[in-house]
Amino acid sequence: MSVRRYGPVQPKTFAFTAENLAWCDKLIARYPEGRQASAVIPMLWKAQEQDGWISEACVRWISEHLGMPYIRVYEIVTFYTMFHMAPVGRTHVQVCGTTPCMLRGAGDLIAVCKSRMGNVAKQVTEDGQFSWEEVECLGACVNAPLVQIFSDTYEDLDTNSFNALLDAFARGESPKPGPQIARTFSAPEGGPLTLTEVES
Ligand code: FES
Repeated sequence: MSVRRYGPVQPKTFAFTAENLAWCDKLIARYPEGRQASAVIPMLWKAQEQDGWISEACVRWISEHLGMPYIRVYEIVTFYTMFHMAPVGRTHVQVCGTTPCMLRGAGDLIAVCKSRMGNVAKQVTEDGQFSWEEVECLGACVNAPLVQIFSDTYEDLDTNSFNALLDAFARGESPKPGPQIARTFSAPEGGPLTLTEVES
């Protein structure tokens, strides 16, 4: 598991846009009095959508807004790798490095990341396009190995398909998420292998 801590350069303040603040207040109003803390994860996600990452000032602002101890929000941000604690590239690649993915070639994907984006994880390339990091299980082990980019996973990768995927992002395209081989979700490659006979 990689170390989770704030990036070295932090803004002094955080603010939602008026539109996002209205979205947060509407969300908070859904919860019964005293349960406003339930809004914490969607609010963090909205903050990340807005700024691209979660700053220390953001964690402080959200904890104060929800009446939560700062440490409770900090714990959430450090636990879930979907939250970025420092600025990331426009295409931030999270490679699953847990055992099933490792057994299926995650090491090759990490080698591609290092060759295209630099040896050191969480460093943004000079053009601002890419950054990468290794994370723990992304919950789609049956389609190992895979990466997560933004909210989507790209599965059943090998070095060729992964390079093609990164090329597509570099061209500004939006590649189709899911398996990058000929199968639907986690169904067998090429189509069903069982229950193939249809009774009349
Ligand atoms: S081990 Fe990689 S998704 Fe679960």
